[in-house]
Amino acid sequence: MSKLPTIPVRVARKQQEAVDICTFELVAEDSAPLPAFSAGSHVGVHLPGGLTRPYSLCNDSTESHRYLIGVLRDPASRGGSNAMHDEVAEGQLLQISAPANHFSLAHEATRHLLLAGGIGVTPVLCMAERLANSGADFEMHYCTRSHERTAFHQRIATSSFAPKVNFHFDDGAAEQRLDIPALLGAPASGVHFYVCGPKGFMDAVLNTARAKGWPEDQLHYEFFAGTVTKSDTDASFEVQLVSSGKIVRVPADKTVVQALADAGVEVQMSCEQGVCGTCLTRVIEGIPDHKDMYLTPEEQAANDQFTPCCSRSKSARLVLDL
Ligand code: FES
Repeated sequence: MSKLPTIPVRVARKQQEAVDICTFELVAEDSAPLPAFSAGSHVGVHLPGGLTRPYSLCNDSTESHRYLIGVLRDPASRGGSNAMHDEVAEGQLLQISAPANHFSLAHEATRHLLLAGGIGVTPVLCMAERLANSGADFEMHYCTRSHERTAFHQRIATSSFAPKVNFHFDDGAAEQRLDIPALLGAPASGVHFYVCGPKGFMDAVLNTARAKGWPEDQLHYEFFAGTVTKSDTDASFEVQLVSSGKIVRVPADKTVVQALADAGVEVQMSCEQGVCGTCLTRVIEGIPDHKDMYLTPEEQAANDQFTPCCSRSKSARLVLDL
């Protein structure tokens, strides 16, 4: 399976940021400036053991001497967060993919509402800093389980934009909890929402926004961990490559990318869990069974593209633009 070209970096600093959350400051191995990034970008970190995981950059996007990522130790993780916490130390060399952004600020917006849940604060904090620096109209809401599990509390509380940030603690008084329906209100042109956090938090925000009639192009979101559902009913199917006509069978226990790799066909991947969009492939014929969290519901319904790292097929064959 092919991966994106990588950048060698060194862990210059590893720091406990909050309970179960560490930050890692990554600098270029040769101390050269790193590729520029925009608020909302992530890098793919190649971990010991062969895993690659996407992590959002949470430092000021004008910095070029470092990338800062924050990692939550997740007991439900498939190994990525534990490897970062337990096996990655200061001084260690890592390979990362260059920053990519599928969660950008909408620069045409007249007002931005940023909503972060838990470690989903990482891209949102970068956005808040960017918006504050450009004098944009924004408001940020940051929900966590408790004060001690709130990463970057100090950095936010001492920032120039602190008055624009509201903290909401699950273990705090009822009146400080986030009232999602009240916050979303009625759809308004020019107002854009950005949401990142655990799936339950994101579903609550996005379902409320959609029920209230907020247009999809004013909702921006990024799931930070894939929850790719494997099902007993996953069946085998065929994919056909439009360039060569080659037909490849995808068995029930393999992904499309794995089956293609076995047949000598490479598809670029990063997250391998339907989050980052790197593997996005155009579908010429057939009906994909979407399992990603990258495409919007409308984009999924169009059935003209899918993420072969995790999505499958509802039809006996998919013809792909490969
Ligand atoms: Fe990230 Fe497929 S590799 S969505």
